[in-house]
Amino acid sequence: MKIIVTDTYEEMGSVAAQVVEVQMEAKPGSILGLATGTTPISLYDALTEDCKAGKISFADITTYNLDEYRGLPGTHDQSYRYFMDKYLFDRVDIDKARTHLLDGTNPDADAECAAYEKELADAGYVDLQLLGLGHNGHIGFNEPADHFPVDTHLVDLTESTITANARLFDSVEDVPTQAYTMGIGTCMKARKILLVANGANKARIVRDSFQGPVVPQVPASILQLHADVTVVVDKEAGSLLDL
Ligand code: GLP
Repeated sequence: MKIIVTDTYEEMGSVAAQVVEVQMEAKPGSILGLATGTTPISLYDALTEDCKAGKISFADITTYNLDEYRGLPGTHDQSYRYFMDKYLFDRVDIDKARTHLLDGTNPDADAECAAYEKELADAGYVDLQLLGLGHNGHIGFNEPADHFPVDTHLVDLTESTITANARLFDSVEDVPTQAYTMGIGTCMKARKILLVANGANKARIVRDSFQGPVVPQVPASILQLHADVTVVVDKEAGSLLDL
């Protein structure tokens, strides 16, 4: 595991963007696994800037997002489809038909999750998976548990995740209580993984995830077992790391 600590949040985004761009240049038809949350916004800004400057192109890129709230249509401003359109897809030269997210409005959870997992399996899984990090160590929406969930599945969000994400909704009651997410196994099948985190309130979980024991109570800790992981954190989020 390679851990890079940057001075600022913006630098975290540009350093992480370099990792994505190296992948895109090496394989213009790459499949990228993408993440939402406030953390990757500076990374998406850097990718957008480099695309507008003609340094990279998304023309042949395919994407699969990690997760989506159950019950929110893509037109809802807190859906992850809306987020991705706003922060990346509508700003770069990507073919929207190649951008995939779980459909939060499909009431048949089993069918939705099985179809998404199958699509990923048929595609050979992703070349590079981008991840953020929840305050409780969740990746995607894989919450702390007594086992590592393998495949794409429906989850009941923990109270701490609902509270953490309430800042983006009008009120805590508006936060969906369930979501569809790739499994930990789905993420681990990516050939490369890039995780970003910023801010002092992520410092403890960054340390527990990457320098603590590998346990399902800290879902991100499993990344220690993946052969090709790059972690890019700003100095606040990296402040408790023993480097
Ligand atoms: C959300 C998302 C995750 C994200 C995490 C951290 O619940 N499902 O994919 O990584 O929480 O979000 P943020 O970057 O806003 O701290």
